[in-house]
Amino acid sequence: MQASGRVRALPPTVFSEFSALAARVGAVNLGQGFPDFDGPEVVREAAVAALRRGDNQYAHGLGAVPLRQAISEHARRFLDLTVDPDTEVVVTCGATEAIFDAVQGLVDAGDEVVAFQPVYDSYAASVAMAGGVLRPVTLQPPDASHPRWWFDAGELEAAFGSRTRVVLLNTPHNPTGKVFTVAELEQVAACCRGWNAVAVVDEVYGHLVYDGAEHRSLAGLPGMAERTLTVSSGAKTFGLTGWKVGWAMGPRVLRDAVLGAHQYVTFAVPTPLQHAVAAALRLPDTYFAGLQADYARRRGKLLAALNASGLVPWTPEGAYFACVDVGGRGFSDDDAFCRDLTTRVGVAAIPLSAFYVDRSRAPCVARFAFCKSDTTLDEAARRLRAANLGARR
Ligand SMILES: Cc1ncc(COP(=O)(O)O)c(C=O)c1O
Repeated sequence: MQASGRVRALPPTVFSEFSALAARVGAVNLGQGFPDFDGPEVVREAAVAALRRGDNQYAHGLGAVPLRQAISEHARRFLDLTVDPDTEVVVTCGATEAIFDAVQGLVDAGDEVVAFQPVYDSYAASVAMAGGVLRPVTLQPPDASHPRWWFDAGELEAAFGSRTRVVLLNTPHNPTGKVFTVAELEQVAACCRGWNAVAVVDEVYGHLVYDGAEHRSLAGLPGMAERTLTVSSGAKTFGLTGWKVGWAMGPRVLRDAVLGAHQYVTFAVPTPLQHAVAAALRLPDTYFAGLQADYARRRGKLLAALNASGLVPWTPEGAYFACVDVGGRGFSDDDAFCRDLTTRVGVAAIPLSAFYVDRSRAPCVARFAFCKSDTTLDEAARRLRAANLGARR
């Protein structure tokens, strides 16, 4: 008895592996990207109220009506997108299911999917399960002539071709913290229009941008509304990663492609949590501004702790991760560095190489999450400082 070849070919997720290692050795876990503090009480109370009210049967497969309406209002309010709640939204079990469904719904065996690497691990698995071929475009770390993570426009253009069906984009980007600029989005849009490809854009960190960086939706660019699915979820915006309420929104024909898969993957998403996320999306502007300010503060704490330890992080413009070049420190690769940091120093980080389809292009970089309580960040800072990781050799 064994799993299918398709599933056996998928590597175990690096997050589970490092979280298990962190738990075993008692390390402070800055590896996995979930907050160790709770989401807003008013939103949790909305879930309790929905449970008590009896909103406990299957929701509509497209998503509960109040949530679809709230998603549409939120898209208008923050992204300047017009989305019909009746025909252009599907609620899914997290952004993860939305991406999986979009890929199953749009990609036939042998079709190509363009994605930027480092790439969130579920993208490669979704493409593999659809029998598609992932064409990675490599994001390069900042250097003397590039202040932020960047890509070569020629490499992007070369990744597209007649077999390209979908480009999977994530902005703000996990793990680099890159926020794609309008000029960069325009380059992606030009390729999509040129090759008649669909864009699936994962915007789960859309509310987490810093230092004046602006999150822009690809769907808002000229000619892109009709070929873009915008994906998001309540996980990061409301600090409720365990709820797994996400969605995809876009033109009806693309919505139908997602729905075609969704109806047989999960069919519907927990009803009371949908009602609570609807309430969350309608929170006043002060909530979203406060979230940004709070994460900017946590980011500052982690960056200071890393700098004080001798590690030199790049400053992320978005999301909730900071990356550090850990090359030249006597380790064979970033995986070896992260294992040593977890077991010897007692702070878990994730090796960036795990996010590469083509590992030969991976730099030696560790990713630290700052979606953590002050207690956790302070303890990590203490351990890192005590370890005195020093300068690169
Ligand atoms: C880029 C990206 N997309 C999607 C997800 C998962 O979102 P959800 O929990 O809504 O499935 C994550 C979680 O870490 C992520 O980093």
